[in-house]
Amino acid sequence: MDTENLQRRRRTNATPHNAAVTEKRLKRGEILAKKKADKQLIKEAYAKKDHLASFPAFRHFQINGLSVCLKSGHGNALSSPVKRYIQNLLKLNMEGPYGSEWQVEEKVKRVEMVDPEACYIFVHEVDNSNADEMTTVLTTEDTSTSRLEDSSPLVGFVHYRFVLEEEVPVLYVYELQVEPRVQGKGLGKFLMELIELIAQKNCMGAVMLTVQKANLSAMKFYTSKLRYIISATSPSKVIPKMETSYEILCKTFNDEAKTILEVTENKSF
Ligand SMILES: CC(C)(COP(=O)(O)OP(=O)(O)OC[C@H]1O[C@@H](n2cnc3c(N)ncnc32)[C@H](O)[C@@H]1OP(=O)(O)O)[C@@H](O)C(=O)NCCC(=O)NCCS
Repeated sequence: MDTENLQRRRRTNATPHNAAVTEKRLKRGEILAKKKADKQLIKEAYAKKDHLASFPAFRHFQINGLSVCLKSGHGNALSSPVKRYIQNLLKLNMEGPYGSEWQVEEKVKRVEMVDPEACYIFVHEVDNSNADEMTTVLTTEDTSTSRLEDSSPLVGFVHYRFVLEEEVPVLYVYELQVEPRVQGKGLGKFLMELIELIAQKNCMGAVMLTVQKANLSAMKFYTSKLRYIISATSPSKVIPKMETSYEILCKTFNDEAKTILEVTENKSF
């Protein structure tokens, strides 16, 4: 049978029933293509070794008498002192908000900390007089941390990952931790601005994070100052009667993410 005949046959076979099947197949095809594209976005985001490289202006920050340098890190490449630092700061900042859940949560966080998908931005405090020198050290190709870690103490960090949340590719902030002595100087806000830029640069639909309800100051920081909202995926929105100790917050960057992660009306899970 020649091609023209075959095409004609296909066309005449397109009864209403077949048209519906074809449309369904097409839709399924589109959905599969979209899923594939989203997974590819996540893969590409992880393939970048240093997300800070796109934002050189953020490598050094000076405000309210505080001078810091930022450096990227990965969960599977943390030195023992850095692991200890993370654990100690988490305990210091989070034992209170977690209360009786802390013992279990601490163990979970220890595992999460070293996950190969854990991406980090570390904040090192630098002497004001060394600020320019440190910026140079950090922007050179070889950013082996030994000198930096030896000479400039850590004062905080962000741990983030790229994940699919309700099939939307998002940057999920696992931890944002600033040492008490440098809190309130604008560092947390600065880090979250950077995180949002990293999310958008990597075509993520949103930044998401989890906050303990008991952590009133963090909740206020995210919702009042940074304009995050409680996500439609947060337990309090999904099952309002269920009592949980946390909320999931989000800030979306496109319509798809907004519809899925923000809008709760007529949503059935
Ligand atoms: C929450 C945290 C990350 C905020 O970082 P920070 O460096 O202290 O915050 P910033 O100095 O950048 O504050 C930015 C803005 O939020 C405001 N803000 C900060 N903490 C606040 C608080 N507790 N209550 C109300 N506003 C607050 C600041 O006044 C500032 O406002 P401005 O821009 O008008 O001056 C930090 O306090 C922290 O590490 N806390 C302990 C760990 C924690 O709870 N992490 C979050 C877990 S989800």
